[in-house]
Amino acid sequence: MAGLGQEWQWWKTAVFYEIYPKSFSDGNGDGIGDLDGITDRLGYLADLGVDAIWLAPFYPSPMADGGYDVSDFCDVASDMGTLKAFDGMLSRAHSLGIRVITDLVANHTSDQHPWFQDSRSSRAARRRDWYIWRDKPNGWRAALTDESAWTYDKRSGQYYLHLFLAQQPDLNWRNEEVAFAMHSVMRFWLERGVDGFRVDAAQCLAKDPEFRDTPELLTVPVAAVNDQPYTHEIISGLKKVVQEYGDDRLLLGEIYVDDAAAVSRYCSPRYREFDLAFNFSLLRSSWSSEEYASVIREVQDIFEAAGAWPTWVLSNHDRPRVRTRFSGSPDRARAAFTVLSTLRGSPFIYQGEELGLVDAVVPSELAVDPKGRDGQRAPIPWAGHWPHEWNGILPRLPFPPESVSLNVESQSMNSESMLSFCRRMLRLRRASEALQIGCLELLEGPDEIVMYSRKSGLSELITVVNFSDRIIDMTMPGEWQIIVSSSGGGEQSRYQGVVPPETAFVLELSPRAKA
Ligand code: NOJ
Ligand code: CA
Repeated sequence: MAGLGQEWQWWKTAVFYEIYPKSFSDGNGDGIGDLDGITDRLGYLADLGVDAIWLAPFYPSPMADGGYDVSDFCDVASDMGTLKAFDGMLSRAHSLGIRVITDLVANHTSDQHPWFQDSRSSRAARRRDWYIWRDKPNGWRAALTDESAWTYDKRSGQYYLHLFLAQQPDLNWRNEEVAFAMHSVMRFWLERGVDGFRVDAAQCLAKDPEFRDTPELLTVPVAAVNDQPYTHEIISGLKKVVQEYGDDRLLLGEIYVDDAAAVSRYCSPRYREFDLAFNFSLLRSSWSSEEYASVIREVQDIFEAAGAWPTWVLSNHDRPRVRTRFSGSPDRARAAFTVLSTLRGSPFIYQGEELGLVDAVVPSELAVDPKGRDGQRAPIPWAGHWPHEWNGILPRLPFPPESVSLNVESQSMNSESMLSFCRRMLRLRRASEALQIGCLELLEGPDEIVMYSRKSGLSELITVVNFSDRIIDMTMPGEWQIIVSSSGGGEQSRYQGVVPPETAFVLELSPRAKA
């Protein structure tokens, strides 16, 4: 799409892919996914049709929160590689046309981070005020535990704030030195050539200056500190740093609030904050035509009003996988992927979603995550034979069920597999201006059908999804061709007015009708 105008920055037409490095691919056989492992699989991602990868944290970390407790922002965890391995991965990605964005965990550090070690050393410490210390706790609860968000530090006799685990003290962004330090972290990675950042827990960055904890402000996760006006100032500061490196670097926000309007406020070009923010409304939706239709309508209206570009997410490392949420149904997972890749907005695929994986069952003695998120962080099965190319020491978590058939190797050889289907979908998206940038209109259809058109210039595609477990008859004015079908049948043939159960089609006016 070289001809698109300046307002079509790369991230609007890109397909993103989230990598949770620890469980993606193991380059050296020690059972831990690493940066060399990612480098090895970049060809696979290019074939899949991925334009950009987002790497969850690979920094040194005591791993109390799966790497989101960072003890050094400017290095690589020793079991995941080195800065040299990072540079190698980045240049290989760029040579394949894949952009790389990294995680900026700006809200908190690990309690093992030297900044916090200094801060807690005494009330007079140079960095005391880099974190949030109080004589008395208020009623705020921590998001990952639902226990108090304050922990007493015996030595210095005060409480520090942690909106997540006690091992993740919150930074005090009202202190200018904190902003300066975090901006330096960003420059460190921008200098190395990263294409941008995904900013973790961005809705939490500023806290209510009065530390109010009235009952209506106490819903977890920590509504009391969500969405403060000062948070917007912090984010525009981050945006300025990114812009020092040109207009081509992306700032993407994780804004964990329920309300799409609040999310769109963070990425409206009017305010020069985020370029994109996660829209989690599909991640929260069940398999229901009413929910899907209303989410698509709402997001479309709200983002359009804000002049913002939406994103779409079905799965990530924090939530059960989409197929798991849809009662394990492979058909629903395929239909949902069809929606993800045909909506207006940037799609985010979570590693393994393209394989149709469900969550692994993790017995309690193997669990590592305090919040029960191990199932969706299970290792990716690359080959059919156990241990699925995790040679050497086995990974700490069990493989997802069905890894013997749902691995990359077997699915690559089967044109009917989920993987082959996803490749076809993403190829279609990449080749179609209507799907990449076209406008979206929800169309009226029978109950339990959701359908919408995507139009750009003269080209128009229609996505049709049957959410029911019955065949639905639906005639369409004109003569239409099925280009892609989530259930495989009938691709490249004339649409006959029948939509099979739990199936999605992408339709195009047939060449004869167009002429
Ligand atoms: C959001 C991350 O996605 C999640 O994994 C983490 O636990 C919290 N932020 C805290 O960093
Ligand atoms: Ca390894």
